[in-house]
Amino acid sequence: MPKPFYVTTPIYYVNARPHLGHAYTTIVADVVNRFHRMCGAETFFQTGTDEHGDKVVRAAREENLSPRLFADQVSEAFRTLWPKLDVEYDYFIRTTDFGHKKFVKRILQKIYDAGDIYFSEYEGTYCFGCERFYTQRELIDGKCPDHRTVPEIIKESNYFFRMSRYQDWLVDYIDKHPDLIRPERYRNEVLAFLREPLEDLCISRPKTRLQWGITLPFDERYVTYVWFDALLNYVSPLGYPDGEKFKKFWPGVQHIIAKDILKPHGIYWPIILKAAGIPVYQHLNVHGYWNVDEGKMSKSIGNVVEPLEMIDIYGVDAFRFFLLRDMVFGLDSNFSEKALVQRINSDLANDLGNLFSRSVTMVHRYFNGTIPEPDPESEDKLDEGLKKEAQRLYKEYIEGMEGFIFHKVLITLWEFINSINKYIDMNAPWVLVKNKPGKKKLKSVLYNIMEGLRLIAGFIYPFMPRASRLMGQHLGMGSGEEFQPMEDLRVWGKLKPGTSLPKSITLFPRIKPEAIQDRFGKPEIKSKFPPLKPPIGIETFNQIDLRVAKVLGAEKIPRSQKLLKLRLDMGEKKTVVAGIAEGYSPEDLIGKQVIVVANLKPTKLMGVLSEGMVLAVVDEGRYRLATLDGPCEPGMPIT
Ligand code: MSP
Repeated sequence: MPKPFYVTTPIYYVNARPHLGHAYTTIVADVVNRFHRMCGAETFFQTGTDEHGDKVVRAAREENLSPRLFADQVSEAFRTLWPKLDVEYDYFIRTTDFGHKKFVKRILQKIYDAGDIYFSEYEGTYCFGCERFYTQRELIDGKCPDHRTVPEIIKESNYFFRMSRYQDWLVDYIDKHPDLIRPERYRNEVLAFLREPLEDLCISRPKTRLQWGITLPFDERYVTYVWFDALLNYVSPLGYPDGEKFKKFWPGVQHIIAKDILKPHGIYWPIILKAAGIPVYQHLNVHGYWNVDEGKMSKSIGNVVEPLEMIDIYGVDAFRFFLLRDMVFGLDSNFSEKALVQRINSDLANDLGNLFSRSVTMVHRYFNGTIPEPDPESEDKLDEGLKKEAQRLYKEYIEGMEGFIFHKVLITLWEFINSINKYIDMNAPWVLVKNKPGKKKLKSVLYNIMEGLRLIAGFIYPFMPRASRLMGQHLGMGSGEEFQPMEDLRVWGKLKPGTSLPKSITLFPRIKPEAIQDRFGKPEIKSKFPPLKPPIGIETFNQIDLRVAKVLGAEKIPRSQKLLKLRLDMGEKKTVVAGIAEGYSPEDLIGKQVIVVANLKPTKLMGVLSEGMVLAVVDEGRYRLATLDGPCEPGMPIT
């Protein structure tokens, strides 16, 4: 029985919405988690959000929300995104959870009592605009990079974690566990950091400066600063030290992060664990950064890739496959829709999709849709060769999946797909069918092709669970089992002769490359939405009276699934009926600022007089109200 497996992603800051980078790490965690499930291990997969700290306070302020409400909203955006990407996590942690806060306090107290936390004065360059200290290296020409002002030198008393005490221990531990941090380049990077003397870590902020955090158990005047709070998320829900989960899963824990947070995970975290008396993690798996169209992904450049947008256009499986295939785990990679489309068309539609539909079609054409019984006597070197390849694939698949070399796993898998394609061409079923001995041989050939496809369906499961399931169903393997156990992928001949197969399908539709142009600049994807209406003059536009309105009250309209009756303040109080009941519940709307067409002729909808129209996007069940980016007085005209 393989040992229990526990995988984590970083907990993401709630000051940014989920994007491609977060999606990659979380999908990788899902892929390895599914793989370990196939191996028969009991698994636990945790992700979540990191919600304390001044960045969150500032982001919340910009949105006119309390940190708590703001964190609730963004955390929810992460939590609900993952299932849409077919990420099946077991536990979603928030650092604002009561249990987590209690655990952090407990560990802080333990380390404090052991003498590894001390109080001391700290002097540093502080930007009042950013409300944070800057190191000299972070400053540009001696000024704050955001505010362009010279920061002030301030003195502050704070608590420090005695990391320096553990420096030699950590170097020794990493030496003795060569694959603790992988790939090797990141292990070397950590060892390089450790060649310089380690400074103690400032782990507190006075409440005069920051309240949004966990209060230190030994000093009410301070909150703990982010890393102590954040890193302990990996342990806090497990029930340390006697909980079942902790005992079962902690020994097999693997973290997945990107290179940006290597230092906290490669240095602070093992030392915190050591100081707290908790065993160090098994592996820290570190990947590189996704750039977009050869540049850094950033909100200000406007090139942030939204996972939901990608899966809406290309499908979840294709998106997952591309991310795992086009990034060498550990190195940076470039995301472009052009590359994504190329991968879909060549690897998925062409190589795998065509092989699958062509093979199922042959079973229908030559054997009335029933998997034939192979004829052992007619087997030759070609059949032997294919089976040997399957054995090699199994071995390399396991090594690659355990070692986080996903691109190589997929290359090997596609080599096997190409081998089956070649096997078909060499055997030429369309020739074999023409005579009696040929027909006998054809049984084995088609059986072997379908058996090869069964293995592929099993191996792609962690990467593309939907395609795997669909292939399984079309190979007559039923729809009951979610995946094939690894053991079944080691052996040849599991497919049952005599099974009748449904008609062939297209697994991955081809994408027309001309649909993609430059995403940032020129229009890139031909819109799936209605074409623009004919142009109108400004006089016509000016006749439409758009106003700011505030929702005072909202209620469902009896017998209507779609309509809500809204009481609006738009300078004067009016009633408007809006078709958004499937996207918003009445409580969601009260207090919201919306945009209305205020001079629409009143009309009755389901017996209710509607005196205007609320602007919103409604697309395939997704609703988004049009609003303004800051508070305005109800009734203000929008020009
Ligand atoms: N809250 C901390 C982590 C605490 S873990 C105890 C944090 N959050 S974050 O929101 O900034 O997330 C950083 C992580 O997001 C990276 O380590 C990586 O997993 C993912 N990525 C963010 N941008 C990325 C890319 N451009 N490319 C790949 N992954 C990146 O740091």
